[in-house]
Amino acid sequence: MQNIRRDIKNYFEMERESGISEYLFSSKPKDVQLSLVKNQVSNCQKCSLGKMRTNSVFGSGNINAKLVFVGEAPGRDEDIQGMPFVGEAGMLLTKIIEAMGIKRDDVYICNILKCRPPQNRNPLPEEISICIDYLYTQIDMIKPKIICGLGKFASQTLLGTEAPISKLRGTWSEYRGIKFMPTYHPAYLLRNPHDKKLVWEDMKKIMNEL
Ligand code: URA
Repeated sequence: MQNIRRDIKNYFEMERESGISEYLFSSKPKDVQLSLVKNQVSNCQKCSLGKMRTNSVFGSGNINAKLVFVGEAPGRDEDIQGMPFVGEAGMLLTKIIEAMGIKRDDVYICNILKCRPPQNRNPLPEEISICIDYLYTQIDMIKPKIICGLGKFASQTLLGTEAPISKLRGTWSEYRGIKFMPTYHPAYLLRNPHDKKLVWEDMKKIMNEL
């Protein structure tokens, strides 16, 4: 027993010396693990967006959800409230979810970027590659049955493709063994309401699968 204790102590000392000071023990419950990562995100300064944010926006909803929606990045309202999809596009997303016969609280909603890009500009490739591990961790922990990619950035990033969203939407793909449905972003629908019917087609496919 003493030897085991000594070995464990030596191991952690070695890790500390090589710069590793934070651990996510997989034996911790999912909610604890996710709040540890949320805390890391709220202190994150890995890219320049960290200095500009009011709040980081980690994600919200049911951490045991079968369905996860992934958007692009927080906008102004999300940055102020620290919650995803709470502005105009968020209200439309909530309506879509409720029309599917689900409560918003029953799904999980998050984004590719956790901090707002200035003037809501598109995420930069380097911002995505710096931030994406947080999303991968969220998905790994939640283990949904289905992911719905909202718009080009979520869908192209998680599917590893540059195909346009107009080609991707409506067809099932897979992200690491999880069914993935790309669709138009609610902000796009606010500008192009005639395409709402296409999103509804995509949502019906998700409902059938659920
Ligand atoms: N648009 C997004 O992609 N995400 C949000 O959280 C809000 C608007």
